[in-house]
Amino acid sequence: MEFANVYGAPPAELAALSLNARQFSPLSPGADSLESLEAGSLDGLVMLAPPGTIERRYAIAAALRAKKPGSPLLIMAPKDKGGSRLAQDLRDFGCEFVEEARRHHRICQTFSLGDPDAIAAALAAGAPRFVESLGLWSQPGVFSWDRLDAGSALLMQHLPALSGRGADFGAGLGVLAHAILTSPKVTQLTLVEIDRRALDLSNRNADDPRITRIWADVRELKSLSGLDFVVMNPPFHEGGLENHGLGQAFIQRAAAALRTGGQCWLTANRHLPYEAALAPLFKRVTSVAELGGFKIIQAQK
Ligand SMILES: C[S@@+](CC[C@H](N)C(=O)[O-])C[C@H]1O[C@@H](n2cnc3c(N)ncnc32)[C@H](O)[C@@H]1O
Repeated sequence: MEFANVYGAPPAELAALSLNARQFSPLSPGADSLESLEAGSLDGLVMLAPPGTIERRYAIAAALRAKKPGSPLLIMAPKDKGGSRLAQDLRDFGCEFVEEARRHHRICQTFSLGDPDAIAAALAAGAPRFVESLGLWSQPGVFSWDRLDAGSALLMQHLPALSGRGADFGAGLGVLAHAILTSPKVTQLTLVEIDRRALDLSNRNADDPRITRIWADVRELKSLSGLDFVVMNPPFHEGGLENHGLGQAFIQRAAAALRTGGQCWLTANRHLPYEAALAPLFKRVTSVAELGGFKIIQAQK
């Protein structure tokens, strides 16, 4: 069976997609959102389910709500990243399904519509909410959704009052943006983020006329130049695997976006080899702090 609608990137050997299949993952810039579809309007979907339990059940519930009666929903996940729980999820939604195991994935197919009450409960459990301990709007599934990341906290302790035009690469919920904008000398701040949900929430968390938001993969960003500063807590996981190249690409994009003399401030886990990526691109690289397994680096172009 070929699917015209897809959520995430299911392995090609496990799911056939039609050419120009419509993407629904919030991690795919430009994708549509399942939540905003009219109920019962989607003609089938194949989903690589996200690993977090609340997020996965929310995504499955959104797919069940959106799909047309009698249309197929094919859901898969690696066995150790939520796959072994898919069958129970579908049972909890009151769906009939068939399950198979292939290439380390569990794959479930259902034509059921599911129990509306169970769907509504999963949608409510995974919806955006105000998290008191963070003092921010957040949603299960976005980075560090219910606690302040220790690396970001350390960076905020060391960040000076910045000035001019800058960017926050991988801005998440807008935690760093909020701190950056306490400086009245900041005239403009561009938040770049690949997760549509986080970017939408940052709108509620840091509502400031100096902010511009870009839903994009930093690695593909060519539009920023002449900036006075770039601040970031670069991601180092992609598809559940550690990936140092991602942070290194963020550093290259920061160097390209900064003016001569502009500053890059970054926080990272101590083991990540970012100094080697910074050295050839920046005039001066300074280790500002190291604490609790994190480091803060300032680099001047
Ligand atoms: C370590 S988190 C930092 C989030 C936020 N700045 C903070 O301090 O809480 C990295 C962020 O980068 C985002 N991200 C991951 N890959 C990305 C990419 N290729 N382009 C843009 N953002 C990305 C993630 O969604 C996540 O929000």
